[in-house]
Amino acid sequence: MARSASRYSTVAIVLHWAIAAAIVFQVLIAWRMHDLKTPLGFALTQLHKSVGITVLLLSLARLAWRLMNPPPPEPARLATWERALSKAVHVLLYVIMIGMPITGWIMVSASRIQIPTLLYGVIPWPHLPIADLPAAAKAPWRSFGHESHEWLAYGAYALVALHVAGALKHQLLDRDMPILARMAPGAKPGAWFDPRLLVVGLAGLGVIAAGELIRPPLPAAAPLAPPAAAMEDDHEDHGDHAAPAAAPVASPEAPAPAAASAPPLTTAPIGPSHWAVGKGSSVGFATSWSGQAIQGRFDKWTADILFAPDALDKSKVSVSIDLASANTGDAQRDQSLPTADWFDAANHPKATFVADRFEPAGEGRFVAHGKLTLRGVTKPVDLPFRLKIDADKARMSGVTSLDRTAFGVGQGDWQATDQIPGKVQVSVQITATRR
Ligand code: HEM
Ligand code: HEM
Repeated sequence: MARSASRYSTVAIVLHWAIAAAIVFQVLIAWRMHDLKTPLGFALTQLHKSVGITVLLLSLARLAWRLMNPPPPEPARLATWERALSKAVHVLLYVIMIGMPITGWIMVSASRIQIPTLLYGVIPWPHLPIADLPAAAKAPWRSFGHESHEWLAYGAYALVALHVAGALKHQLLDRDMPILARMAPGAKPGAWFDPRLLVVGLAGLGVIAAGELIRPPLPAAAPLAPPAAAMEDDHEDHGDHAAPAAAPVASPEAPAPAAASAPPLTTAPIGPSHWAVGKGSSVGFATSWSGQAIQGRFDKWTADILFAPDALDKSKVSVSIDLASANTGDAQRDQSLPTADWFDAANHPKATFVADRFEPAGEGRFVAHGKLTLRGVTKPVDLPFRLKIDADKARMSGVTSLDRTAFGVGQGDWQATDQIPGKVQVSVQITATRR
């Protein structure tokens, strides 16, 4: 029999083994995903989505190729039942290869927790339009996606077992019918064993080891660079800075750099002054995920500051923060933060902090009593801060802690505080010049 008539084309062979390897890997990481709320579970799920969509694209390519390039004729000596069974298994394998990713895609699109899909952390992949349905209409899609994904997974286990058993039966028991040679790279038709098949076996073991051991990069803990955010004035758009800068989160006990050795405050002119926010200012937050520290900051915010240490009763500060600009140094996580599960920036684009009562709290120290409005909820918040004024330059730094759950930040599964604590530390550092 001519080689071309007894073997699948190279394209079909490459696609077959790439898809098979991806599916085995995919199932192994699915078994390790468990808890989406832990960083490793989250990272494995992101990888699972990426590999799954890759399988979808490869399988569609494989199907298109097959329609244009029919497979080699089956060995004439196959029994009719074998022919029928192998055909049925092949058709069902295509159903798995395409159905699994599509049901997974439905599941994540209809999920209560809207986590955007970034393939391999880089390429944005859209949700299906069902993501925009109202919650009640989404629910049936969610359970359909979930259940069919699970049932197709059981089907996949059975079919792959049958498929491999069939290939091995012909290879080992019916040695005159080397089915494997039709698909295995390097194997020759007519030869029941070829050493190159060992390579396939070893590659298979490699895929299994990778699926068991791989630890995809966890969402960054505190990857942000030291502060570099330039803020020319308080109305500048801070989103344009090329290098993301960290919000240095000072511990409340540690003396803030600005006030480490505060000389006596220079007396300001009578009445509070207006201050323009300058370079190096930041509004940051710190929390943790499964014990792993996360530091973030807001890239866009503005502040109106009318303040004088000797005219506290006439002082007033208001800060407006663009919630969509939250930056924790992890693209995937940062896409989730503005969603309805967290800040709900579509409905409440800004958080505001307005303080109009200030209390002296010792040399160079004050407490701002204000109101924070976040996600449509307004609550009193006190911000203790240190301040150093040197002629027309001022530096302040303050840290406070908030209960995110009181503002509804973290919905659904994220309400629980076992992985992400309720308390979030918020830090503000401002360098300002008198206007
Ligand atoms: C998840 C894993 C796998 C999937 C989804 C899969 C899928 C498929 C599909 C859909 C076909 C039919 C190709 C066509 O005619 O268009 C096929 C053929 C084939 N597969 Fe797999 N396969 C997998 C794993 C394996 C493994 C592990 C082996 C070897 C032990 C294997 C050996 C073969 C062989 C020999 C053929 C050709 C059968 C024939 O000549 O009719 N496959 N596979
Ligand atoms: C060839 C493709 C795929 C295979 C073989 C596969 C396989 C699996 C398996 C075996 C599970 C565990 C099922 C269970 O025991 O409950 C699972 C879960 C899951 N898969 Fe896939 N999957 C594929 C593609 C996808 C895609 C493309 C997505 C999303 C875009 C996805 C999203 C999920 C999610 C979110 C879960 C967790 C479900 C839960 O909450 O329990 N999968 N997958």
